[in-house]
Amino acid sequence: MRLLAFSFFLTLAGVVPADAADSLRDQAKDLFQPIPASPPVLPGNPASAEKLKLGRMLYFEPRLSEAHNISCNSCHLVGLAGADGRPNSIGHNWQRGGRNAPTVFNAVFNTAQFWDGRAADLKEQAGGPIANPIEMGITKEHAVNQLKGIPGYLEAFKAAYPDAADPVTYGNIEGAIAVFEATLITPDAPFDRWLTGDDGALDEQQRQGLAVFIEKGCASCHNGINVGGGMYAPFGVVEKPGWEFLPPDDHGRLQVTKTVEDDYVFKVPTLRNIALTAPYFHSGHAWDLKQAVAIMGTAQLGEQLTPGEIDQVTAFLNSLTGRQPEIPFPVLPPSVASTPRPQP
Ligand code: HEM
Ligand code: HEM
Repeated sequence: MRLLAFSFFLTLAGVVPADAADSLRDQAKDLFQPIPASPPVLPGNPASAEKLKLGRMLYFEPRLSEAHNISCNSCHLVGLAGADGRPNSIGHNWQRGGRNAPTVFNAVFNTAQFWDGRAADLKEQAGGPIANPIEMGITKEHAVNQLKGIPGYLEAFKAAYPDAADPVTYGNIEGAIAVFEATLITPDAPFDRWLTGDDGALDEQQRQGLAVFIEKGCASCHNGINVGGGMYAPFGVVEKPGWEFLPPDDHGRLQVTKTVEDDYVFKVPTLRNIALTAPYFHSGHAWDLKQAVAIMGTAQLGEQLTPGEIDQVTAFLNSLTGRQPEIPFPVLPPSVASTPRPQP
């Protein structure tokens, strides 16, 4: 009895007995893995210093858009955790897409790309926005001719693809961008430090939040290295959220698979760096992480989480913020008189 009272006192005082902490860590280790310190190797797309340098230039290259005003970094800002902080991004001719731009940080660890998983990997994904009429709005041929018209790029592609007779191709643009994106990873989050043995890396509220996250079932969908990014699920498994969060005209994965079971099914997003990437959901309509957590409780689990549980889970989610990559803006090769001009 005295022992029970003592452990109750310890819990109140915010002290977790060592065996309880270890068992939480054991459960967590079965569900999650830390972000590695160095970028993964992309199958069939080996990295080199030259390819990485080219990929970084292309990521920041506005001349890959029809009006020479939009780059990948316009919607996935490397200084804003790889997102753009807007509900919908602004693309070519001020057009707005229907979905929130997800972070590109750690996207290399997702099993598929886009909210509906329509691209298998980063290389396949990278070609999409360049040629998308409402994003960068340029044709594939024009993108290649644009870069061929900039002498500095001819050199950079030759250095990155030394064995290619004609190195400036759309596939090589995608490959170089993918190699750069694979370096946009955020190791060393407090959660990862705790997972690998640093007891003090999470405070008591964050550990309680992790326990709630596991016990209530959030981790049945948000798990693995990216705490998400590994599977699909309907948004509204138990109860459909309000239509501002789930606009009825975006049917998600149904549009990709043409299978009725995939109606309103979306990729379970990563929760890495989630504290930095508001607004939330594919519609980008939840600005407050606590609100997003509460909606997940009712929509995915049929659970009205208490304010205390929401605070704990949100505190845990804050511990998923890793070390942000510091990417210098590259010097881009200048246009010359014969370089194709921006189109209105
Ligand atoms: C999705 C990279 C340009 C807006 C994505 C994803 C990646 C990515 C990796 C998928 C992330 C995930 O599913 O977790 C890039 C690269 C670009 C680029 C490499 C340059 C070549 C842009 C631009 C815009 C934009 C210019 C805005 C005009 C979006 C949006 C999505 C997305 C709205 C989600 C679309 C959907 O799921 O249907 N991007 N992006 N991106 N990006 Fe980009
Ligand atoms: C989205 C947290 C449970 C599937 C999200 C987001 C957060 C979150 C913060 C927004 C991410 C972003 O916009 O980048 C949680 C928490 C949960 C939980 C705290 C437990 C209370 C689940 C479960 C499932 C799931 C159990 C699967 C059945 C999804 C899906 C989305 C999502 C599909 C994307 C929704 C959309 O915008 O279309 N979750 N989640 N979540 N979660 Fe969860």
